[in-house]
Amino acid sequence: MSSKDEHGNLRETLESIRVEALEAIQEAEDAETLEKARVRFLGRNGLLSRALSGLRSVPAEERPEAGKTANQVKQTLETTLELRVDELAALLAPEESAGPDLTLPGRRQWRGGVHPVTAVIDEICEIFKELGFTRAAGPEVETDWHNFTALNIPLDHPAADMHDTFYLDEGLLLRTHTSPVQVRVMMEHEPPVRILAPGMVFRRDPYDASHAPAFEQVEGLAVDEGIDFIEFRAAIDYFVHRFFGPSTRTRFRPSYFPFTEPSAEVDVSCIICEGSGCAACKRTGWIEIMGSGMVNPAVFEAVGYDPERYTGYAFGMGPARIAMLRYRIPDIRLLYEADVGFLEQFA
Ligand code: DAH
Repeated sequence: MSSKDEHGNLRETLESIRVEALEAIQEAEDAETLEKARVRFLGRNGLLSRALSGLRSVPAEERPEAGKTANQVKQTLETTLELRVDELAALLAPEESAGPDLTLPGRRQWRGGVHPVTAVIDEICEIFKELGFTRAAGPEVETDWHNFTALNIPLDHPAADMHDTFYLDEGLLLRTHTSPVQVRVMMEHEPPVRILAPGMVFRRDPYDASHAPAFEQVEGLAVDEGIDFIEFRAAIDYFVHRFFGPSTRTRFRPSYFPFTEPSAEVDVSCIICEGSGCAACKRTGWIEIMGSGMVNPAVFEAVGYDPERYTGYAFGMGPARIAMLRYRIPDIRLLYEADVGFLEQFA
């Protein structure tokens, strides 16, 4: 067979493929038939690619020409195929939209959820409610008198340094703790007082894995005649058992706060290692959960309570820290960056 024939043959083959394929494509009435035609003519082992393998036996000088023809056929078929795909889609579309497709999976509705810190606050409030505590609130913009002076923290006292804050107009600041709510409640109500005051506080703190310049606190205050340290410990123990579990142990460590005397830092046995020592408790087996103490008589004097008649206890805790512990969140910023993907898992 001469080379002329080879080329001629290939041309004929290509032409017949073209005609046949065009027909098959145009006649396809659904995607499946169209796909079959594509595989048959344009597929990797399809007629076109088999015909093209004949190119090898075409003499070198005629190969470019033959190759060009082959490419043209290929392009024509591909374009026609694409057009037919669109045509079929358009043809089928009205039918599809005639009614809802009940086989589609449902769309998930966005549901809001409770932020993990809010969940912790609510739970703390619920537990103390069982002991007769109600919720109270105070302003985030405070006077330096409520925030410091009435709480027995002179403005030039080193304890005020730890509360470096954002100062506003003369005598006003963003509160550095929720303790001023104690002052406001006592100035408005006579004992007995049992309140919890959750809220935002502000400090000139860095924003890193364990600090945020704005964070939540929950303040507690109980004042009545005859409240002693035993009642105070019992209330804290009750809370710890209810919140962290009945096998959790409590430890009171002597501390100092100007508004309580004596003062204590309350630790609980580490809820992660149960006291044997791990990274969360820095190998001590204990985790600090709050500052607390018996209300300093100086505070009673500032708010106009008779310190000879009344006693009480107070405490303050950071629910973000507690949420981190409970849900094993390694970085406090995760709580404040409104990353819904992250927060959603607690909802
Ligand atoms: N206000 C303290 C702080 O922010 C926490 C605190 C300690 C509150 C002892 C209290 C308390 O009510 O008795 O560091």
